[in-house]
Amino acid sequence: MRALLFFASLGFVAAENGLNGWLRYASLPCSGQCRSNLPSSIVILNTTETSPVYVAGTELQNGLKGVYGKRVQVKHNKCKASSSVVVGTVDQYREICGAAKGVPELEEDGFWLDTKGKNVQILGQNERGALYGTFEYLSMLAQGNHSKVAYATNPSAPIRWVNQWDDMDGRIERGYGGPSIFFKDGQVVDDLTRVAEYARLLASIRINAVVINNVNANATLLSPTNLDGVARIADVFRPYGVQVGLSLNFASPQTYGGLSTFDPLDASVVEWWSKITAQVYDRVPDMAGYLVKADSEGQPGPQTYNRTLADAANLFAKEVQPYGGIVMYRAFVYNKLNESIWTDDRANAAVDFFKDLDGEFDDNVVIQIKYGPIDFQVREPPSPLFANLFNTSMAIELQVTQEYLGQQSHLVYVAPIWKTILDTDLRVDHQPSLVRDIVAGKRFNRKLGGSAAVVNVGTNTTWLGSHLSMSNLYAYGRLAWNPADDAQDILQDWIKLTFGLDRKVLDTITRMSMESWPAYEQYSGNLGIQTLTDIIYTHYGPSPASQDNNGWGQWTRADRDSIGMDRTVANGTGFSGQYPDELAAMYENIATTPDNLLLWFHHVGYTHRLHSGKTVIQHFYDEHYSGAETAQTFLTQWESLEGKIDTERYNHMRHFLDYQSGHSILWRDAINTFYHNLSGIPDQAKRVGHHPWRIEAEDMKLEGYKTYTVSPFETASGSVAIVTTSNSTAGTASTKINFPTGTYDLAVNYYDIYGGQSEWKVYLNNREIGQWIGNSEDTFSHTPSIYLDGHSAIRIKFRGVKVHKGDTLKIVGMPNGNEPAPLDYVALLPAGIVD
Ligand code: GCU
Repeated sequence: MRALLFFASLGFVAAENGLNGWLRYASLPCSGQCRSNLPSSIVILNTTETSPVYVAGTELQNGLKGVYGKRVQVKHNKCKASSSVVVGTVDQYREICGAAKGVPELEEDGFWLDTKGKNVQILGQNERGALYGTFEYLSMLAQGNHSKVAYATNPSAPIRWVNQWDDMDGRIERGYGGPSIFFKDGQVVDDLTRVAEYARLLASIRINAVVINNVNANATLLSPTNLDGVARIADVFRPYGVQVGLSLNFASPQTYGGLSTFDPLDASVVEWWSKITAQVYDRVPDMAGYLVKADSEGQPGPQTYNRTLADAANLFAKEVQPYGGIVMYRAFVYNKLNESIWTDDRANAAVDFFKDLDGEFDDNVVIQIKYGPIDFQVREPPSPLFANLFNTSMAIELQVTQEYLGQQSHLVYVAPIWKTILDTDLRVDHQPSLVRDIVAGKRFNRKLGGSAAVVNVGTNTTWLGSHLSMSNLYAYGRLAWNPADDAQDILQDWIKLTFGLDRKVLDTITRMSMESWPAYEQYSGNLGIQTLTDIIYTHYGPSPASQDNNGWGQWTRADRDSIGMDRTVANGTGFSGQYPDELAAMYENIATTPDNLLLWFHHVGYTHRLHSGKTVIQHFYDEHYSGAETAQTFLTQWESLEGKIDTERYNHMRHFLDYQSGHSILWRDAINTFYHNLSGIPDQAKRVGHHPWRIEAEDMKLEGYKTYTVSPFETASGSVAIVTTSNSTAGTASTKINFPTGTYDLAVNYYDIYGGQSEWKVYLNNREIGQWIGNSEDTFSHTPSIYLDGHSAIRIKFRGVKVHKGDTLKIVGMPNGNEPAPLDYVALLPAGIVD
């Protein structure tokens, strides 16, 4: 793997390391009409350097220079200049330039963009809107779009937030793009350059607030020194129109403030929060508000004192209200459960906890609800809580961070998942009730509403850990503004801005991305069973058994005959009854439940027939083969773009997609083997457990290696791997090849665990044909594992190896640290075979 990284470091242009995301302003050809259409000056209507309008001027200057090589002067308040771009608020324009003809009434943060007249007009309802309009205009230019347009656009909802799960020590919970850009060693970092760059990206997708610390909050953020740091962060975000919000730890008055209680109705507690809030707003007068995770996953909350969630939310709401702040109170509240009770169901928790409190929350409280009832799974129905609060403001919580979706080491374009949720009609009172209209506050006439997404960017220059994952952040902003937008259209804008206008690049990345969620669902968890990952440990690789026999309630209830959660009212947990009548009836009845949510709502035998006519188990088998096969094509599709994408980003993504192609096979085999073993039902196509092109490491001649039984068993081919007998001397595994003479791709499946970097060399008749190092913990983005398991299992391929029957294949593994150069199997793959 190191060889590839070495190549990556030779990448030619520093700007192509991902840091500028979709705001690269890469050069485009432009002559004749195009050239004469370009503005010759920029007029900005605010001269304060820290104002968003001023920032817009600088951005325009950089954009015009970058894309078209045109140097344009910025003039202040000179409305008469012709052939210029004029940027300001509608009010500034009226004051300085006169009547704003044809500009309709705009809503908060909205803007007017007019490229038809002799000047380009970009007018915001406020300064932030003017900056948004500027980015819109620049996005057109950067896509080579010079069309004449005149339109106004307004946000679907006022809350368009991102949540960072950054800890004070600089780590990020579920972060896959390196350490925090905000914190280090318990304090706010000195150098906030990356924060400014993040602010710029967020403003360009019209995000208006960022919560900078983990929902599992550390009260030390409230120390005077740290609040000074927060003020510095807010100063950096402010010119981009992005407000800062803070996550609170509910027990802070006691654990940090030294009080004997954190009871939300206790006068001393109220007073303590008042003082803290005053200190916060003293430093950050435009602080957006607080985010609260309480009574959830061990976090303290009002239940300790038998107070309601509304008591808790309103405590903070009253504190921030005078300052114009809001409280985002998370609906992710649940207790540990007991799987032996058939009716226990974590999916029920949100409605159980919140429904009866409807109407009791203050007006500046917004309930922040994860899109599905469990936890960012590969397939979930929308949370029924969206259909149960009529007098309470709500926001949908999405996850740009691919916690359960390959942790950025797998390509998964997530926007289509969000669209399935946002576009669902919940039919409240038999009336159209799209989730997107409910959360925007439109369906139940709420002033507040919108969305928040967990983003978790880090100091990695790719921000999220992988270049292609940035489509998810871009899409989030676009959908937060207009959830009716099409996921593929959004993606294509992002591709053009990120990789240029080449048709083949556009078509190829579109195809790969649009196929990525379906493929991931196919090889991870089907029919609504959720992502069958290890929910106790890293949430990354396969481990279906971990889903059951735990108190977390993310269950599959799989036994040897049957699988799925019975969430019916008639016989199960009653969850389907939390939906309005039409949906409740649909989900209650197995005949009308869509196949892709069958196991979410029903417990059935493995031989139950789907609408498609297949049995559940055969569907599992087939989908896993099909998904892994599609994932192989991501690599080859990407490789078809060599030379059309800069070397640095090309190599980085090639490395990732190559990895995904191998890991998708691991997923396929692990899940299929697990259910094959559990159910005893053979695969009609005889693929499961049948690997004609593999040589198991444990069947090779071993010197200095010994067999090792892997757990979970399904994450090793044949459930056994080999490890070196000592942690300092090399082991050798060799075998005679019995396959027909020919040219093969040689795949080696090994384990790369955290805590060591072994070295392997592979030989054919004592001629070295390849070598690699176990340094995946440094080169990929997902959480590493310290065990041989589905997280650490990895495949490397050497292509086009000429092999003669009877040749000797030998692998020498040199252990390092805790990593005993583990090997699972070798596969010799004839062209077109996936094994
Ligand atoms: C998931 C995630 C946690 C996170 C929690 C939350 O369970 O794994 O890391 O704290 O969600 O959203 O609060």
